[in-house]
Formats: sequence, C-alpha cells, structure tokens
Amino acid sequence: MFRREKPDSQGRRHSCKQTPSRRLRACFLATRKEAWEGRRRGHALGWHLFCILLCFPVLMAGQKRHTVEIAVESQTAVDEGQALFKSNCAFCHGPDGKGASGPDLVRSPLVSHDVNGNLIAQVVHDGRVDKGMPSFAAMKPEQISEMAAFLHHQARVALHSSHLEGDYSLARMLTGNAVEGKAFFDGTGGCAQCHSATGDLAGIAKKYLPLELQRKMIYPNSTSVSKTAVVTLKDGNRFEGKLLDQDEFNIGLICQDGWYRSWPREDVQLEIHDPLEAHRRLLSQYTDADLHNVFAYLESLK
Ligand code: HEC
Ligand code: HEC
Repeated sequence: MFRREKPDSQGRRHSCKQTPSRRLRACFLATRKEAWEGRRRGHALGWHLFCILLCFPVLMAGQKRHTVEIAVESQTAVDEGQALFKSNCAFCHGPDGKGASGPDLVRSPLVSHDVNGNLIAQVVHDGRVDKGMPSFAAMKPEQISEMAAFLHHQARVALHSSHLEGDYSLARMLTGNAVEGKAFFDGTGGCAQCHSATGDLAGIAKKYLPLELQRKMIYPNSTSVSKTAVVTLKDGNRFEGKLLDQDEFNIGLICQDGWYRSWPREDVQLEIHDPLEAHRRLLSQYTDADLHNVFAYLESLK
C-alpha cells in the first residue's frame, strides 16, 4: 500500500492511505485547508502585531506612571503584601485582587476608604465566616498593612489604566470645580447633546464608585449600546441593521425587517456606526481642567 507523509504547516504529519485518486483529492483538500488556515494564521499574526503596536504607547505610558506609584506606597510593602496576598487571599479574591469566588477588592468601597489597613484589618482578623470570608486571627498588623498597601497600589494602577495622560490620583480627580463642570457639560463639552443630568445620568455617582465612574466617563464600554451597519451589495441593494457578527470573513446583521442576514465580507461595502465613537473622540477634546471639572460635576449627581 502506498503511503506518503507530508508535513503540514504546523509541523504535524498526516498520511494519505487511500487509492491514488482518492489520495490525491484528499491531499488536495488538506492542502487547500492548510493554505486557508495559513492565511487565517497570517491574518491573526497581522492582528497580533497590529494590537501590539497599538498597545505599545499605552504600555510605555504605563511604565512611566509605574515609577510614580512607587513614591506613593513603599515598593517593599507592596511586594511583601503581594506575596502575602497571593498565598492567603488570592484563591478567593484573585491573584490581582480583582475578584474570583470572593468579591473584587480593588473596587471595594471598604478598601477604597481604608487607610493603611484600618478597615481591612478588622475584616481579615474577624472574617465574615457566615458569608464565606474566613478569619485570619493570627495575621500581624504589619502584614495586614502590607496587604493593604498592595490593594491600594492595585487600585491606583487600575485608575491609571483608564489611559489618562499624566498622574491622576483619585484625590486629585476630585479637586475640580463642579460649577464649571456643569457649564462644560451643557456647553462646549457637548455632553448634553446625548446625556441629561436629570435623565440618564441622574444619580450616576450613586451608581458607580468614583474609580468606576471616572473610567465610564472616559471609556464607556456599554453592552446595551450596539453598533449598527449599512451593507451595500454589488447589485446596489442596501441593508441596514444591528451589527451582530463581524470578523475578517463575514458580516452579519439583524436587519430592520427583523431577519438575520450575513454576507462574505469581501462581497459587500460596509459602513459601521458606533454610538460610542463620538464619545471616544471627545477624549482628545478634554483639557486637564475640563476633565477634573466634569468629573466633579458628575460626582455631585447623587
Ligand atoms: C475562602 C475564601 C476567602 C479567602 C481565602 C479570603 N477571603 Fe476575603 N472575602 C471572601 C468573601 C466571600 C467575602 C465577602 C463577604 C461578604 O459578603 O461580606 C470577602 C470579603 C473581604 C473583604 C471585604 C470587602 C468588602 O467590600 O466589604 C476584604 C477586605 C477581604 N475579604 C480581604 C481578604 C484578605 C486580605 C484575605 C487574605 C488574608 C482574604 N480576604 C481571604 C472570601 C475570602
Ligand atoms: C454623541 C453622544 C454622546 C456624547 C456627546 C457624550 N456621550 Fe457619554 N455616552 C454616550 C453613550 C451612547 C454612552 C453609553 C450609554 C450606556 O452605557 O447605556 C455614554 C456613556 C457615558 C457615561 C456612562 C454612563 C453609564 O450609565 O454607564 C458617562 C458617565 C458619560 N457618557 C459621560 C459623558 C460626558 C461627561 C460627556 C461630555 C464630555 C459625554 N458623555 C458625551 C454618548 C455620548
């Protein structure tokens, strides 16, 4: 029997153990599949490179800010705290403190109001045994304040990862002028075109912690707001609707008549409307002062 081995593009081997004509066809199909997969991988690689390039300035900016962090909490305390946290708490609260089976501590109001472990200590010492938080009665106060340093450090890193320029600590974020913020909101900022302080943003400061609100204000990542698209076919037919699927090869819409339709990406002309796009464009229009002021204004909407 005729047997040939052929390395595929992943270096795996497959054999074609059929009659010559079937074998030929099978190998032809396999090769086509490989070529296609290779193309896909090529695309994926392209995407990865693109994303890396896109993230590079952000990563660099993160690096720069990182040196600012160290001045705030002693780096030794943060490191010690991280080690303690990893071995005692990470199982439930996640290695970065952002939650697993236990709650997110980086965004916990209790942690954000804690100073040097003064509130965390009690929870750790007593536990909340009935709610799944064990007691760590043997933990020393300095160990708790090291873990607190780690958690505060994590909160600060999370705050900075909102891609703001410069060093914004929460305290500094709250030094803006709410009256000027309101003027900006209603006027030059253009926020009032889409939002209302008594409508959709009423009580917004009660809905989110300051950290979260600040991030939402700059980078809303709503799942309730979807992109829409207009697809124009080669014969000139147009379809408009809610964008449901989009990848390199296909595009799928829930059209206005309620039907789902999809097309190969290369067969259509595509126009995408992202309601959050206008929001992201605003980023470049904010000055430092605007940012502080409008945030102070939103914080006053309780
Ligand atoms: C076995 C799982 C588990 C472990 C281990 C654990 N926790 Fe918790 N922790 C919880 C749960 C569950 C809650 C929520 C309790 C509640 O609902 O009040 C919690 C709550 C907390 C809170 C209060 C958060 C808030 O917003 O009120 C803090 C602070 C905390 N844990 C810190 C720690 C630290 C520090 C450690 C390690 C020394 C630790 N936890 C280990 C499960 C755990
Ligand atoms: C072109 C319309 C538009 C403009 C202008 C606009 N936004 Fe938004 N904004 C949106 C949309 C859409 C969302 C997502 C709404 C949602 O999450 O349901 C959003 C979300 C938000 C959120 C989060 C709301 C929430 O409940 O999660 C905040 C805060 C916010 N915007 C603040 C502002 C501020 C401040 C300005 C002015 C500087 C502004 N927006 C300008 C459209 C706009």
